[in-house]
Parts: sequence; structure tokens; C-alpha cells
Amino acid sequence: MSDAVRTVIAIDGPAASGKSSTAQWVAERLGFRHVDSGSLYRGLTAAMLRDSAEPSAWTADGVVAQGARVGLRPDTTSFTVLLDGVPSEEEIRGSRVTEHVSLVARMPDVRRWVNLRVREAASEHDVVVDGRDMGTAVFPDASLKVFLIADPWERARRRLMQRLGRRPTDAEIAEETDRLVQRDARDATQTVQAADAVLLDTTYLTQEEQVERIVALARAVTHRPHAS
Ligand code: CDP
Repeated sequence: MSDAVRTVIAIDGPAASGKSSTAQWVAERLGFRHVDSGSLYRGLTAAMLRDSAEPSAWTADGVVAQGARVGLRPDTTSFTVLLDGVPSEEEIRGSRVTEHVSLVARMPDVRRWVNLRVREAASEHDVVVDGRDMGTAVFPDASLKVFLIADPWERARRRLMQRLGRRPTDAEIAEETDRLVQRDARDATQTVQAADAVLLDTTYLTQEEQVERIVALARAVTHRPHAS
């Protein structure tokens, strides 16, 4: 195993700005692996909720101790978060975890634990990492940094389309927009755009368009014009 950090593309941005799906797609196009830092915060939160402790009593030591139950399994183009050795995608994306994850993510010792896991993943592969602070706290020397933003209503609409598999009603979008804006506020301190990040507003872009733009930027900095 090498300790050297390989090529890193960092994609940050607020809740539901399309970071993870875009990062996954970009990783596939470049032959990199996608590391979703948010999934580690979610995994720790899900582990805490399984023990059903009262969230107001959660401590950083208690959360970090749950790290022993949360693992990252490398797949061809990504890493799957394992909880007690089992992929638990549905549970970690569920509303209970989403409601409590910012509480966990605010704890400095927890951030240190997550950042260590993400750096370990990046030491063995070229990676596209996504989160809130990948381009600032974790990989200040990343080859490319992108900060994705989109109008909150549009972010809420996309998140609901993904979750419900149908067109959401305006009332549903309004409710989800409120939830997103509240989570943005809770995550504000750790959501930081790097001074050298490319700001990409995706409100009027299709997913294909935003992926194309990032792939083009990545090829310019990594000099891999012929990767498929
Ligand atoms: O996909 P979405 O933007 O909704 O969230 P996520 O990337 O799965 O992240 C879930 C939560 O983890 C966020 O609401 C933040 O509280 C936290 N997080 C963070 O603080 N720093 C990161 N680098 C990534 C996630």
C-alpha cells in the first residue's frame, strides 16, 4: 500500500446539489473511484441510531467509537459503506439519518475520523471525492476543485424525483425546500468553497451537461484526453 495521495478531484456544495451522482459519473468516465464523504457521516449516524441512544446525549467519543462498525468496501468505480459489515444504503439515506447527521458532522473529532478514512481511500486510487470541505480541509492540493450550487427549489425537486420516482407536487417541493434550507443552515460552517474552486451553478444544466463540464476540466488538469 502506498501512502502517496493520487490524483484527487474534489466536488463540494450544499445539500442535494447533485454532488454524489455527478462525482460517481465523473469517476466512471475517468476511470477513477468515487468516495462519498457524506456516506461516512451517514454511516456513523445510522450506527448511533441503531443503538437508539437519545441524540441529545450523543458525544464525539461515542460517535467515533461507532467507527469500528463502519467500513468502506472498494468496488470498481466507488466505495460502498458497510454498517456492521453489510451495505445499508437505504438506511443511511433515510429521513431519520438525514435529520440527525448534521449533529454528528459538527463534532471536530468525528470530522477528523471521516477525513482520515477519506484520505486512506485516496492513497490507493485516483479519486473523485464529494462533500462539503473536500477542497478545503481534506485535499487543499486537489488537482481540480468544483463547488456545485443550484437553486433550492430545483435541488428539492431533483431530490424528490430521485426518492419518489415521479414528478413531485408543488406542495411536496415546498416542504422539501424548507428541509434543505434548514440543513444548509446547520451545515453552513463546514460547507466551504475553496478560493481556487470552479463554481458551477447547475440550476439550468442537465446532469449530462454538468458531468461533461467537469470531465472536460478534469482532462485539462490531469492530461488524460483519451480516457473514454
Ligand atoms: O447528498 P446530501 O448533500 O444530501 O448529503 P451528504 O453528502 O450525504 O451529506 C450528509 C451530511 O453529512 C451533510 O448534511 C453534512 O452534515 C455532512 N457532511 C459534512 O459535514 N461534510 C462532508 N464532507 C460531507 C457531509
